[in-house]
Amino acid sequence: MHKNVIELKHPLIIHKLSILRDKNTSTKEFREIVGEISMFLCYEAMKDAELNDITIETPIAKMDTQRLNEDRYAFIPILRAGLGMLDGVINVIPNAKVGHIGMYRNEETFEPVNYFFKVPKDIEKREVILLDPMLATGGSAEDAIELLKSKGVEKIKFLSIISAPEGLKRVSEKYPDVVFYTSYIDDHLNENKYIVPGLGDAGDRIFGTK
Ligand code: PRP
Ligand code: URA
Repeated sequence: MHKNVIELKHPLIIHKLSILRDKNTSTKEFREIVGEISMFLCYEAMKDAELNDITIETPIAKMDTQRLNEDRYAFIPILRAGLGMLDGVINVIPNAKVGHIGMYRNEETFEPVNYFFKVPKDIEKREVILLDPMLATGGSAEDAIELLKSKGVEKIKFLSIISAPEGLKRVSEKYPDVVFYTSYIDDHLNENKYIVPGLGDAGDRIFGTK
């Protein structure tokens, strides 16, 4: 994979994913684990974050330290399934702004259909962190990135829980300036463009719609 792809594949991730992937896992537990893995992804994506110098006083002494400028970030979940990742990342950066991109995959053509777009007014000045648990063909990721670039956004990171190698290759090659963080790269896409072994339909499992 390209250098703009970061796969976590950590023992804790493999453990959590084994529960998430299990078809017998309840909606409640599924949502909780999506939130937990999203926190890990956000932690990794913040590795290059810029910090501002500040001085504080601990109960013992004055010290020079640093804080994140939380105002420079915007999280954008791709609806619906990306919403399941929002709580986890907001726990880590509670003052980030939030936008929404609504998209679903046409079940016959597998092409994404865009139905909603609402982002913070000053989006071009922010680092945008796109959230979608599944990166399959990469079509939804590509459309979301194009929409943001057309609004002048320069720094984009994409967080996914599971990615298919085909889709990840497509988008990471097309957008060398975007960093793709994924907790695990699976084997392949099946004839219905579902990730194998995957976890099924992420939106349906998060919201209990099937
Ligand atoms: C899923 C998923 C991604 C997209 C990935 O959304 O959450 O947005 O498919 O597929 P792609 O990489 O081939 O574009 P879905 O269409 O199931 O909509 P939903 O989130 O509303 O369930
Ligand atoms: N969308 C999902 O929710 N799951 C997949 O495996 C592919 C696309």
